[in-house]
Amino acid sequence: MSVPVSTKPEDRPALDLFHGYALASAIAALEMADELSALEKGGITLASLEGRDPLLVATLRYLCHRGVLRESGERFTLTDYGARVYADRGFLVWLVGGYGEPMRRIDAFLQRSMRYGSDVTRDGRWVAGGTAMMARTDVVPQVMETLAKISFGTVLDLGSGNARFLMAVCDRFGARGIGVDVDHAAHAAAGEAVAANHMQDRIELVRADVRALDEIPGIDKVDLVVTFYLLHEILAGGRDALLGYLTGLAARLPAGAKLLVGEIEPPIDGEPGQPFTPEFTYVHALVRQTLLPADGWRDVLTEGGFDVREIVRCRVPGGILLLCEKHEPVSRSR
Ligand SMILES: C[S@@+](CC[C@H](N)C(=O)[O-])C[C@H]1O[C@@H](n2cnc3c(N)ncnc32)[C@H](O)[C@@H]1O
Repeated sequence: MSVPVSTKPEDRPALDLFHGYALASAIAALEMADELSALEKGGITLASLEGRDPLLVATLRYLCHRGVLRESGERFTLTDYGARVYADRGFLVWLVGGYGEPMRRIDAFLQRSMRYGSDVTRDGRWVAGGTAMMARTDVVPQVMETLAKISFGTVLDLGSGNARFLMAVCDRFGARGIGVDVDHAAHAAAGEAVAANHMQDRIELVRADVRALDEIPGIDKVDLVVTFYLLHEILAGGRDALLGYLTGLAARLPAGAKLLVGEIEPPIDGEPGQPFTPEFTYVHALVRQTLLPADGWRDVLTEGGFDVREIVRCRVPGGILLLCEKHEPVSRSR
């Protein structure tokens, strides 16, 4: 008799990766297809699946095999493990929904038979949607605490995505908002959200490239600019491009204006087992972007016309917030 092949996970690490890939894809897909929230609200009954695509039942059964769901009394419900995964589903939506297509084409990028940006792009709706879900628990609480220390009346969000964050800030601090995003899908999702929350009179949405600073209405009256996970996109054009952008932004803002930047630091070399930041950095390399550590951001922001007042660490691994203020003009003594 032949010796049976070991199937213990510790002996076959590739099967762990196989499992992680399929599970992340299935969970993100359920969220994007709007099937996941029913699981949180008491579960999904077999009767309610009558007439639905058999793939939905197969997906739920697969999640049972992987301990995310349990099936009992003709109902699928989240296990404790499943509830913890559900709480962090934004990470999976961002990766699978936002970057699934370019991830699948890494081979073609390596062989130079396809180019990111012209042949394949990320999906803006799920980049923005996944980010907003992650940020709700992992970034927004620290942002709100930081913003509570300053005062402002008009906030400009550069790269506002689906505007969930901008709406939360305007709501919490009674401010007016301007949201700028270049992506059609993200801009459309933002418009729907602002209308659904009856905030059209307080929030103006502009579909534009944030680099066209002169197209931003009333920028000279803005006393707070927030920008989350956007400045590394400008950095993709080189450090000088970022510096030029920051200098132009500072020049257009009124004296005393604040800038709050959210970024993710790259992983620390030589430290295995770091969560999230190696993948976040790799996905950005795929789309030809690099990330900076906190000191790198401090240097470029200072050179670009902003004093960095505070650096706050967020719950998301590697997450930093830099609270800055436009440099005071140097007063000349006569
Ligand atoms: C990671 S998302 C962050 C969305 C939102 N700020 C949040 O924290 O939930 C980055 C956003 O920046 C937008 N973006 C990237 N480059 C841009 C550019 N040059 N001009 C305007 N928007 C841009 C993308 O479309 C995307 O919606």
